Amino acid sequence: MKPVKVGLLGLGTVGAGVVRILEGNQEDLSSQVGSPILIERIAVRTPGKLRDIEVDAAKITADPWEVIRDPQIDVIVEVMGGIAGTKEYILEALERGKHIVTANKDLMALHGSEILAKAQEKGCDVFYEASVAGGIPIIRTLIEGFSSDKIMKIMGIVNGTTNYILSKMSREGASYADVLKEAQELGYAEADPTSDVEGLDAARKMAILGTLGFRTNVELGDVSVRGMSGVSKEDIAFAKRLGYEMKLLGIAERQDEEFSISVQPTMIRASHPLASVNGVFNAVFVFGQAVGETMFYGAGAGAMPTATSIVADLVAVIKNLKLGVNGLKQIVPYKQKKLKSDEDIFFKNFLHLHVDDKAGVLAKITQVFAEYEVSLDSVVQQPNPNNPDAEIIIVTHNASKASFEKVLRHLEELPVIHRIKSHYRVEG
Ligand code: NAP
Ligand code: HSE
Repeated sequence: MKPVKVGLLGLGTVGAGVVRILEGNQEDLSSQVGSPILIERIAVRTPGKLRDIEVDAAKITADPWEVIRDPQIDVIVEVMGGIAGTKEYILEALERGKHIVTANKDLMALHGSEILAKAQEKGCDVFYEASVAGGIPIIRTLIEGFSSDKIMKIMGIVNGTTNYILSKMSREGASYADVLKEAQELGYAEADPTSDVEGLDAARKMAILGTLGFRTNVELGDVSVRGMSGVSKEDIAFAKRLGYEMKLLGIAERQDEEFSISVQPTMIRASHPLASVNGVFNAVFVFGQAVGETMFYGAGAGAMPTATSIVADLVAVIKNLKLGVNGLKQIVPYKQKKLKSDEDIFFKNFLHLHVDDKAGVLAKITQVFAEYEVSLDSVVQQPNPNNPDAEIIIVTHNASKASFEKVLRHLEELPVIHRIKSHYRVEG
């Protein structure tokens, strides 16, 4: 049995996990695909670096082109991250007929359509299961499991770092900065954690899920993004008091053929299954027209869960190689893109105001909501002995995003309002 030779770009958190799984499960893997799987070459940035994994030093190079151009190599596993340079490596590898497995959501969200088109032209596979929700096989599920259905809504906790932070703030009252540091030490956060906490990482993953779920080319610019770095312990406590949990939620919804897609800190009803997803765990809730509600749960980041998805993709590539059917399973979006306008996107809102504590203030505030036809579900004055202002908590009924924005702009101008402390989307 001729071995299948793999070129690895990157030997960091995820790359080391890939090596461990290939070594630890080699017998089982080779019996599934009918050949041994060998790592032939590995590109890293700093070859001399001390690593907690043993690999043959002769296989390591600092030049990714050596891996891409090696004629022995059948499949490139890209786990080094980055966008511009990495795209060049991948396009050249495809040009040379090599198949690609990648965990790189940044690259796939920004250049996925170009890469997949090249793969189709060259009859190559490009699999990227690990790019969304680490160890959860959600991409294969959307492509294969739901091929017969029409997906109407996808809600995802798709960033492990921020879910880890919000869970610890919620359960232990820990501070944002301390928990972020922990998440970085555990290898969950991106090299620059801004993309995690400001929602960009989740937005990229939601663009990938939206493309697959709605069969249209969802681009990063189509995703409305708000990060979670401004969420305070107090906001989380309010959410709990009202029967909600605070989560950084990606929400992609379709109505008729129009869709909207967003990432934002969201108060989700505590009884919703997504509300109990804690720590580094991710979950993706999918509502299909025929199947109804489904949910997929698992570790969203970390070496071994992410490597599980990568090696599973590798197995899929090799099985296709044996059958001679590589390049046939790419999903190329075919539907014309129709984005909803803010007038047509409806959801509930939570609003926390600091206001003058005197007669007639509440009437002035509710008048603003009435002016923009935003109906109120509940209004509560919250006593706070440490604050001379009155604290008002408002939850609206479903209102259009455009109308609620107008309410906020108008409230900002109202002299009786001292501060719009926070506002969040409410789900469930
Ligand atoms: P990482 O720990 O920073 O590892 C990156 C690896 O790539 C390192 O081995 C580094 O070399 C190498 N590298 C970086 N730039 C290079 C270059 N220009 N040339 C050659 N080698 C280069 O990153 P990671 O956490 O494993 O993440 C890798 C990818 O997986 C990223 O796309 C990330 O978004 C994605 N991902 C990560 C997770 C996770 O839980 N960490 C989960 C899902 C997806 P040195 O070792 O010499 O520095
Ligand atoms: N930084 C990412 C996260 C890694 O925290 O989810 C997995 O994509």
